Amino acid sequence: MAFTLKINGTPHEVDVDGDIPLLWVLRDVLGMTGTKFGCGQGLCGACTVHVDGHAVRSCQTPVDSVGDSAITTIEAIGQAPQGAALQKAWLELEVVQCGYCQSGQIMSAAALLKDTPKPTDDDIDAAMSGNVCRCGTYQRIRAAIKHAAGV
Ligand code: FES
Ligand code: FES
Repeated sequence: MAFTLKINGTPHEVDVDGDIPLLWVLRDVLGMTGTKFGCGQGLCGACTVHVDGHAVRSCQTPVDSVGDSAITTIEAIGQAPQGAALQKAWLELEVVQCGYCQSGQIMSAAALLKDTPKPTDDDIDAAMSGNVCRCGTYQRIRAAIKHAAGV
């Protein structure tokens, strides 16, 4: 079935089954590999993208559920002020270890700062609790979110 997905401000035509997860379309059909496959079960957050500004797990999002919504991926999050601030903070605080989880981490953090520009520790914990990092970079992630937010 044909779908037109609005991704990072650009329409993309895809012809796929409607129940295929958005993650597969991004990575395997469109070649946008910044969004990562981790668990495929909604448990790790590696596949996080934004749909109309909200962080969602793209491995659990059937492509036919997206409709006309605006999808943002890690490839374009730096074009938003929160995303740019986070990427800068991530570099300055050298957050990344292996890096595999980090695009999902930044997408969740960007959604947090969009809704809550000055987050508390509890806000950060609540927003980031679904993003797993096997390398244990949690303390640096928290520090970088605060750095980006100026708190
Ligand atoms: S790959 Fe989607 S939550 Fe883990
Ligand atoms: S940096 Fe390696 S899994 Fe998070």
